[in-house]
Amino acid sequence: NRPIKISPSILSADFARLGDEVRAIEEAGCDWVHVDVMDGHFVPNITIGPLIVEAIRPVTKLTLDVHLMIAPADPYIEAFAKAGSDIITIHAEAGPHLDRSLQAIKAQGKKAGVSLNPATPVSAIQHVIDKLDLILIMSVNPGFGGQAFIAESLTKVAQAKALAGDRDIDIEVDGGVDPSNAGALAKAGANALVAGSAIYKGNDPATYAARIKAIREA
Ligand code: DX5
Ligand code: ZN
Repeated sequence: NRPIKISPSILSADFARLGDEVRAIEEAGCDWVHVDVMDGHFVPNITIGPLIVEAIRPVTKLTLDVHLMIAPADPYIEAFAKAGSDIITIHAEAGPHLDRSLQAIKAQGKKAGVSLNPATPVSAIQHVIDKLDLILIMSVNPGFGGQAFIAESLTKVAQAKALAGDRDIDIEVDGGVDPSNAGALAKAGANALVAGSAIYKGNDPATYAARIKAIREA
């Protein structure tokens, strides 16, 4: 099995100390940094834009795993690429031309991911599978941190892994991930786990390393 990537979501970081919060999770041993971009239209919350990605880019060497919960996504792909994203993930539900959006990400030289909401079947990405570097299975309805894990996501992780087959595609899960479900997710085929509240809750850097370890060991 592939080594697990832990991708803490800075959505649950203390935004007044964002640079320190990013440094702290890197020092605590995470693999990627998950950046949740919300537009108040595709999801009922507004978070951050390319300026924040640009601001944290020099703070960490880690992969910036940028999750765009915005519609339309195409007009902003270049800005997020230029800001320093490494992986750009868009939602299959965000627009009618998913194939074109994936080409736009690739044209920027970035890794391309597609995310699926809990109600969207894995078959939605069957015909773009060869254009994907990452599949992001949402295990909550996107918009907020701290929501309860939807157990049906395990089935979808296994289906996504089966669809990916031998291809070098990361299978990532996002929403309500913690040590109680991380093991089952890895067993089902996930190799990248996003965790917001399970790592950042309380915003005490002294706790981050143990929390990342607990998820990894689960
Ligand atoms: C949800 C976001 C997630 C969220 C995860 O819309 O995409 O990345 O911040 O937070 P937790 O781990 O608290 O569910
Ligand atoms: Zn996310």
